[in-house]
Amino acid sequence: MEFIYRVATLFLLCFIHPCFSALVQEQPLVLKYHNGALLKGNFTVNLIWYGKFTPAQRSIVVDFINSLSSTRAAVPSVSSWWKTTEKYKGGSSTLTVGKQVLFENYPLGKILKSPHLPALASKFNGVNTINVILTAKDVAVEGFCMRCGTHGSTKGVSASARGVFLWVGNSETQCPGQCAWPFHQPIYGPQTPPLVAPNGDVGIDGMIINIATLLANTVTNPFNNGYFQGPANAPLEAVSACTGIFGSGSYSGYPGRVLVEKSTGASYNANANNGRKYLLPAMWDPQTLACKTLV
Ligand SMILES: *[C@@H]1O[C@H](CO)[C@@H](O)[C@H](O)[C@H]1NC(C)=O
Repeated sequence: MEFIYRVATLFLLCFIHPCFSALVQEQPLVLKYHNGALLKGNFTVNLIWYGKFTPAQRSIVVDFINSLSSTRAAVPSVSSWWKTTEKYKGGSSTLTVGKQVLFENYPLGKILKSPHLPALASKFNGVNTINVILTAKDVAVEGFCMRCGTHGSTKGVSASARGVFLWVGNSETQCPGQCAWPFHQPIYGPQTPPLVAPNGDVGIDGMIINIATLLANTVTNPFNNGYFQGPANAPLEAVSACTGIFGSGSYSGYPGRVLVEKSTGASYNANANNGRKYLLPAMWDPQTLACKTLV
């Protein structure tokens, strides 16, 4: 299991040690490879929607995932962002959205415990799948807001990757300052004006940041013995090691310079299929030993 303590932790560290973010960028950041299997090759991403999402919201997520391994959009693109995962031992990971199920009537209630997540993920079985659980804004999940999502596996350590799952919640009404930052004012630390969400939906655009984070963390550390820094029970992984960084020149509370769409004022850094745009977090690059931003 892996936890993202995104903005809150970063800001807290910056209060304790004001130059924390400068240190992160100046010293080489090393995520050690622990010799375990990574997810390389072709993977099907199944989506488990828990609670109510509109068709428009679902298509923002589907287009994002299908853009990871598609080279149709102009750079900087979602696929150029995903390409950094190829530099982690063993080649590329091609992801395609597979099956989807809608649990619109909250069959397990609106308060989920951690064991509910692998239980929901077991809806879809099969090799080379990643099951993604997405919870609606009115669903409380154990640990939500301490973390914005999590990933794990249920069936042991295998390159055929059974039982790999991740969860991300819609934080629109629960903790947008933590999990939908920088589209929402942060709760802690220095305040910069929120950015305009590229798909006009603070909750879903925030989920995209966390889905991107967890997909990259999952393929590079699926069984807790891949790439990470720190203790295995609270690892810093491919993207969680770069928390709070979206563009060049970022510092605590400032996401960095990103692109702005003139007509809407929306901030983004990645083009995608169907003319969509997304704002994606920096990812650790094993070649340069630094957090890589798209712009
Ligand atoms: C992945 O799928 C593509 C297209 O179907 C195929 O050409 C390729 O050989 C597959 N790769 C692996 C590693 O199975």
